[in-house]
Amino acid sequence: MLAEPDLARLREALDAADYRFEAVAALLGERATAALDRNHTVPGQLAVRGSGPLEIMTRLWRLQQPVPLSAARAALPVEALVGGGLLTIDGDDVHATVDVRPYADDTGDWWVVADLTPDMNGRHTPVPHDHVLGLNAASSTLAQLTVREPASRALDLGTGCGVQALHLSRHCDTIVATDINARALAMAALTTRLNGLNVDIRHGSLFQPVATERFNLIATNPPFVVSPGGRHVYRDSGLSGDDVTRRVVVDGAARLADGGVLQSLGNWMHVRGEDWRQRVGTWVTATGCDAWVVQREVQDPAEYVELWLRDSGEIGGDSYTSRYQEWLDWFDENRVEGIGFGWINLRAARAAHPTVRIEDWPHAVQQPLGPAIRGWFDRAETLRLDDTKLLESYLTMADDVVLEQIGRPGAADPEHLVLRRHGELMRAIRTGTADAGFVGACDGTLPVGVVIDALAQVLDVDAGLLRDELVPQARQLVLDGFLEPARHTG
Ligand SMILES: C[S@@+](CC[C@H](N)C(=O)[O-])C[C@H]1O[C@@H](n2cnc3c(N)ncnc32)[C@H](O)[C@@H]1O
Repeated sequence: MLAEPDLARLREALDAADYRFEAVAALLGERATAALDRNHTVPGQLAVRGSGPLEIMTRLWRLQQPVPLSAARAALPVEALVGGGLLTIDGDDVHATVDVRPYADDTGDWWVVADLTPDMNGRHTPVPHDHVLGLNAASSTLAQLTVREPASRALDLGTGCGVQALHLSRHCDTIVATDINARALAMAALTTRLNGLNVDIRHGSLFQPVATERFNLIATNPPFVVSPGGRHVYRDSGLSGDDVTRRVVVDGAARLADGGVLQSLGNWMHVRGEDWRQRVGTWVTATGCDAWVVQREVQDPAEYVELWLRDSGEIGGDSYTSRYQEWLDWFDENRVEGIGFGWINLRAARAAHPTVRIEDWPHAVQQPLGPAIRGWFDRAETLRLDDTKLLESYLTMADDVVLEQIGRPGAADPEHLVLRRHGELMRAIRTGTADAGFVGACDGTLPVGVVIDALAQVLDVDAGLLRDELVPQARQLVLDGFLEPARHTG
């Protein structure tokens, strides 16, 4: 742990060297940056050979290479960082013992302190059980999903290196960050203090450190891996099966303030003879929240075991076969035939009939989806009106909607009509002439009922029957964002 004066000296040195996301990316160049994203340092080593402060920091932390002691001393308070456990000296070389990485969002820059990347350059070294994960694809996904609006109290459960807490600091007054791993809490404390942030860091399992406190926003990338036994704290909760995902949903929802939002990444089991939607649906329905669950991918058990054995550097190691077998046996014993990966979004609506949507959406999406998720919850709220009120309401087509006509070239009529959104989840739905016409006619100037009646005249069909057909579709089109409530002033 670094004392405050030493932390201040480190911050000054990082600032003075302009050790920032953009500057480091420019120094490395595109090829080396892309290689680093794949955990390969050689292009970076070729690109960065100088001994100025920015080069030294980039070599030390981004490239995880030893640097000459004299050059390190010119750039950094080396002795203080050795004392704080961030660097070691070996002869005339200085090595990093933890990663200090520049990071940024649209508003500004941060530094993130975490363990060094274990599998640089294809090395398969077993990852220690208390490893503290640095920036990674899952943390970035969650950061982009998070609804970013002003909030009073936020919880970052399983903070690790503190990356979610950094993002939360942009729009939340009070941030509580928890973890069961004391090393993670030390890293999160360094990350947040280095960036001049005041985060309430607490030790303990799941929601135990926050007892019955309530939050306006809970953003968590929990240790969701479904495995027999908790061997790696960064990904295994120690709870059985997918129980950690269930606990985050059920116990997290109970800690939401009115209107509060919980967003979590998760894994869930596909158990033979059971519909996964039913399984996850039982968890989210019990919360009484509006819920939108999106399954992004399903892996078969063997693929899943390989993924996580690779992730922990166990591929090809002595225990690889026995571990693989033990894990697969566990899946077989528990009749697990697949593991779903996805996103869970809850909002404490306190409505008599919450809206619950559980869907498979493995297709490309347009991140960041935070505003889309916020919009989904708002539209679910808007739709809590009866059919009469819906017919009196005004709707307008979203800006990103197009109609595609698909058929054989030269054919008189298209075989399919598809309504497609070009933003957010980039949804596409098969449609018919009536609903496509309805969407096209919604420009916010006439009530829904009048639009449908006019359409019935044009199509020469019964207006009552068309209302019965289009009202449920209008609800779905609003929830999916093809149509938006219009602010009618007339
Ligand atoms: C996948 S990492 C996420 C780290 C970081 N929040 C991010 O977004 O990258 C999961 C974190 O949960 C922590 N963790 C594991 N078991 C836990 C538990 N029972 N209670 C709270 N945190 C736990 C791990 O130490 C780890 O830091």
